[in-house]
Amino acid sequence: MIKNISTSRRTFLHGLSASSLVALAPRLSAAPMQLPALRQLAGGHPLIGAAVPTHFDKRLNAQEKAILSSQFDSVTPENCMKWQSLCRKQGEYNFGPIDRLVEMAKANKQKVVGHTLIFNRDGNYPDWLFRDGGKEADSKLVWKRVEAHVVKLMTRYKGRIDSWDVLNEFVESHDPGYRVTDFTRFLGKDYPVRLFKLAAEIDPKAKLTYNDFAVENPKRQKAILAFVRSLQDSGCRVDVIGSQSHLEIGDDVGKNINSMIKNFAAIGVRSAFTELDVDVISRKLFWNPKTRPAAVLQNPYPVSCPDEVLQQQAKVYHSVFEAVMANRKNVDRVTMWGITDRNSWLNNWPWKRVNHGLLFDRASAPKPAFHSIAKILARR
Ligand code: G3I
Repeated sequence: MIKNISTSRRTFLHGLSASSLVALAPRLSAAPMQLPALRQLAGGHPLIGAAVPTHFDKRLNAQEKAILSSQFDSVTPENCMKWQSLCRKQGEYNFGPIDRLVEMAKANKQKVVGHTLIFNRDGNYPDWLFRDGGKEADSKLVWKRVEAHVVKLMTRYKGRIDSWDVLNEFVESHDPGYRVTDFTRFLGKDYPVRLFKLAAEIDPKAKLTYNDFAVENPKRQKAILAFVRSLQDSGCRVDVIGSQSHLEIGDDVGKNINSMIKNFAAIGVRSAFTELDVDVISRKLFWNPKTRPAAVLQNPYPVSCPDEVLQQQAKVYHSVFEAVMANRKNVDRVTMWGITDRNSWLNNWPWKRVNHGLLFDRASAPKPAFHSIAKILARR
């Protein structure tokens, strides 16, 4: 560990101006680390963000809080704004965790992402949404509830949310072209049009984002582009397309990301990388039912991740940031899906293992991926 820190320091300090260095709170007896601040290096173009866990005030330690405030200029609530977390019981909204996040962001001069108004995946809504007493709700009642939820949430934080993820994960590249969920079953496949129009009406100044996964995949990219064009043709405002970017080592995405940003810009929409992480344990075997039983037994790096693997990971982060910086006027934001490996969702999904997908390790030490990004940003 100690060896890592000193190697890290040397790599960091090389080639960076003193003004872009910030001190991280000392860890126990160690001297404070001088780290370049990604947010400062990027200068807001793009914004550099992180997802923040619910109850971050208790769940993050002092090191993690220092990283959050010094490195990032945008924060996304990882879970507390999702409908199922916010309003588990009908009529009982738990705004406390969001309020605290918004206050913390203000103190740190950070922008806040509204994640997410509607998450088009079964399970990502409260149990009561599609019920009406002992029977199923009808579509009118469901839309009334969606409308009331969106109005309540967006109005409360109007002027304090930089960008709303209006809709999450609607598109599929195979038939019927969208993910069939309770939302599409009850509201029909065109509900995104109503949703985007409603969001634009409530907060004309906030950026409106369509957010999806595997956007770097050309087939999905094409389908997402067609979907967003159809929204535009129906009179909707879509400012940003969010590419979640849950990547893994070995992914070769630079070229696709480059063309993605350009293709979206051609229809007047900017890009964001909304949930970036790079899994060091390939998930490919998990998606094949035949190899899944073996896949879920994998936990190759339970103590620490070998440097050679971290270098491969840095390569993937590097390719994302190269493409971002080559197209920076069309990129709104790059958000990491977490702060350190200690609290990353990749430790639990799609199976439990000790994972290492982010820029800082479990002891909050910067990893090769961090150095590599800092270097690219420092070149601007
Ligand atoms: O907090 C409870 C805990 O009390 C309980 O014991 C435990 C048992 O399962 O669950 C805990 O809640 C979990 C929550 O994460 C907090 O860790 C939920 O089960 C789990 O479903 C939830 O997963 C989140 C997932 O979205 C589902 O909404 C992940 O943390 C979060 O990282 C992930 O984020 C999504 C983005 O919003 C959209 N894009 C994809 C990304 C990954 O699915």
